[in-house]
Amino acid sequence: FRCLMSSILITGGSGYIGSHTVVALISAGYNPVIVDNLSNSKITVLDRIETITGKRPPFYQIDLRDRAALDVVFQTHSISAAIHFGGLKAVGESVAEPLRYYENNIESTLSLCFVMAARGVKRLVFSSSATVYGDPHTVPIREDFPLAPANPYGRTKLMIEQILQDLYAADPAWQIALLRYFNPVGAHPSGLIGEDPGGHPNNLMPYISQVAVGRRERLSVFGSDYPTTDGTGVRDYIHVMDLAEGHLAALRYMEKAESLSPQRQEYKLNLSSPDSLSFPRRRESIPLIVNLGTGRGYSVLEMVSAFEKVSGKTIPWQITDRRPGDIAACYADAIRAKDLLGWTASRTLTDMCADTWRWQSQNPAGYP
Ligand code: NAD
Ligand code: UFG
Repeated sequence: FRCLMSSILITGGSGYIGSHTVVALISAGYNPVIVDNLSNSKITVLDRIETITGKRPPFYQIDLRDRAALDVVFQTHSISAAIHFGGLKAVGESVAEPLRYYENNIESTLSLCFVMAARGVKRLVFSSSATVYGDPHTVPIREDFPLAPANPYGRTKLMIEQILQDLYAADPAWQIALLRYFNPVGAHPSGLIGEDPGGHPNNLMPYISQVAVGRRERLSVFGSDYPTTDGTGVRDYIHVMDLAEGHLAALRYMEKAESLSPQRQEYKLNLSSPDSLSFPRRRESIPLIVNLGTGRGYSVLEMVSAFEKVSGKTIPWQITDRRPGDIAACYADAIRAKDLLGWTASRTLTDMCADTWRWQSQNPAGYP
């Protein structure tokens, strides 16, 4: 059996960001195919995706490191591109178990790229992270800022970026987008899919929403002596549906780049620079690297009060020590995404809180 319909492979597609991107892709008329080993997600997300979109995407429970199994997916479906979300992402865990993180995240990416190359599929969008910038000297953070991740998880992201840059340099047929996400929060407005961290949430929004729903007693605010407006940490929270649409924009950017013939691309580029008319410009020497954020930051206490307002719940909190490795402020310069991809985040902080709350209150214990 071979499905002739053109499909997009979504690794990690049953996870938090992947599942929202699958919904956005289906709504835009794409055919996503999911590969996930379910190490950090539940199969029930598929029922929810089907309820929202009316379509059930093909799903393969495969570890990405299993090249033979992955290859079967490429034999079965006519894949035109991959969006690579699959990976481990808990910072603290990566400090405790670095080998597992390097092995899983790097090997998965190598395996995916080997299979893609062998099957002639050379369009790839990679989930990178603002964590590659480490502690920035200034904010907002531009894509050309120095890269200095502060933990093994972040280093897997940087190493993968470097591997993909080398691949891009070696073979001009590859189209690669490295998307550096800031802090994804929120859920699909239906409340049917959302973030479901197993165990103790590491991140702020899931923690706040679990306090609101009564699963946790109070929020610990990690430090109140940062050089920020109210002393608590500032981050660029971005609605997960905006983030999902950022992937669509990156995919379309790459599709469009290919549909213009090489000559035509050069002609267009050279119009703005008559001097170079006789010297056709070569393709960019590095892949597309784009921040996906809103460009503005909110403090922990601003997040708490926005959530209280939307949910009507009181969120008890107490100041505790700083969390090791945390930085004061991190938010994106989002200009490049707008200029190149024509994408900007449009959902507000109220949307982020309302949609998180709808998901959490309808699914107090997460996915069944
Ligand atoms: P998630 O854990 O919900 O999703 C990742 C998925 O990958 C999970 O479903 C997991 O089961 C799967 N997976 C892990 N290793 C695999 C393997 N070897 N083979 C097959 N599947 C595997 O995480 P998320 O929040 O949706 O993040 C998606 C991607 O975005 C990750 O790469 C993450 O590092 C990156 N990212 C996330 C954030 C964030 O704050 N959520 C920020 C920046 C970047
Ligand atoms: N915070 C608290 N209490 C909590 C959890 C978090 O006060 O219980 C604070 C943190 O100190 C920080 C802010 O809330 O100031 C946001 O913390 P998160 O853990 O939600 O997010 P981080 O910015 O620390 O990191 C997240 C992901 C990383 C990713 C990064 C990208 O965890 O994997 O965003 O910017 F790389």
